[in-house]
Amino acid sequence: MILLGIESSCDDTAAAVVEMGDGVRAVRGAAVSSQIAVHALYGGVVPEIASRAHSEAICAVVETAMARAGASPADLDAVGVTNAPGLIGSLLVGVSFAKGFALANHLPLIPVNHIKGHAAAAYLCDLSLAAPFCALVVSGGHTSLYEVPAPTSFCEIGGTRDDAAGEAFDKVGRVIGLPYPGGAAMDRLAAAGFAHDRGGMFSFPSPAVADETLDWSFSGLKTAVINQIHTLCQRAGVPDGSQLPEAVREGLAASFTRAVTEGVGAKLTRAIRERGVTRLVLAGGVAANTHLRKKIAAVCEAAGASLVVPPPSLCGDNGAMIAAQAYFEAQAGRFADSTLNAYASDEDAAFV
Ligand code: KG4
Ligand code: ZN
Repeated sequence: MILLGIESSCDDTAAAVVEMGDGVRAVRGAAVSSQIAVHALYGGVVPEIASRAHSEAICAVVETAMARAGASPADLDAVGVTNAPGLIGSLLVGVSFAKGFALANHLPLIPVNHIKGHAAAAYLCDLSLAAPFCALVVSGGHTSLYEVPAPTSFCEIGGTRDDAAGEAFDKVGRVIGLPYPGGAAMDRLAAAGFAHDRGGMFSFPSPAVADETLDWSFSGLKTAVINQIHTLCQRAGVPDGSQLPEAVREGLAASFTRAVTEGVGAKLTRAIRERGVTRLVLAGGVAANTHLRKKIAAVCEAAGASLVVPPPSLCGDNGAMIAAQAYFEAQAGRFADSTLNAYASDEDAAFV
């Protein structure tokens, strides 16, 4: 089955042509238009600007993905599109485009949940991956652990009670003086910190909630790091984190990252033990983090669980993951008609 996947839930306009079937799971062509430069001016995503930028980019992005795949609409079997969760104006651009494209080319239309899409990126890097498995999705908007008994059925067994991990990376990165979004730059700064043995320079609270649940809370950690940076700035008489000594900035990034990876790892260890997890998928934008990848790999190895982590190019928002999930939605007969709508939250979209 050849599917076009369309993703526009936040600040990336993405499309991909993917082939899925017995013995084949391959990205034939993909394109992404990033809005980072536009939103960097404001230090975060501005929803209305994001919608307008999607509207400008989407035709060219789909054309480029199709051209890279050497495909014409006649070669496609279906169109999958993210319809929840995300920024409503952004989602509506992708959904409206997909509806028009499907209607014009007489193709079935498949709504895809963004979180399920993130996890589905893993199918593209492991031909043998099949439900049941557990999925840890760590992104700018979500940090949740799911049991996935069937490819279209996700049951949340743990998650953040407040901020997502990616939000904490971005906010701390901003206060340290890194450009938006701070995640990837924090990754590099922390690597320098670990290389200089600065991962223990500061002691920050764990994001693992101290109870029997599989939940996290990142807002306390985020606030503790930001308060620490403000105190250091006051003491040093500098206006912001960018002007702290490099050794201190490295120590902050490494100590924060260590708190995140240890805290995520602790609840995952508990989940593996309590739920008998044998196979884990790590996905979402923050799954690109080199330190988190290492930690989760170590946790899984110690617990005897297998791990599938997509390459960084398939961790951030992309069209291929949406096409991959659309394939399984199609297998389950979950098609939409031209009344398809977009939903900002999972609750509205009937997630499971
Ligand atoms: O999945 P994604 O592309 O969009 C959402 O669905 O939210 O995730 C974006 C998030 C941002 O917070 C970004 O800073 C973070 O993923 N991110 C990283 C890294 N690369 C991207 N965070 C930590 N380390 C990275 N290497
Ligand atoms: Zn995402």
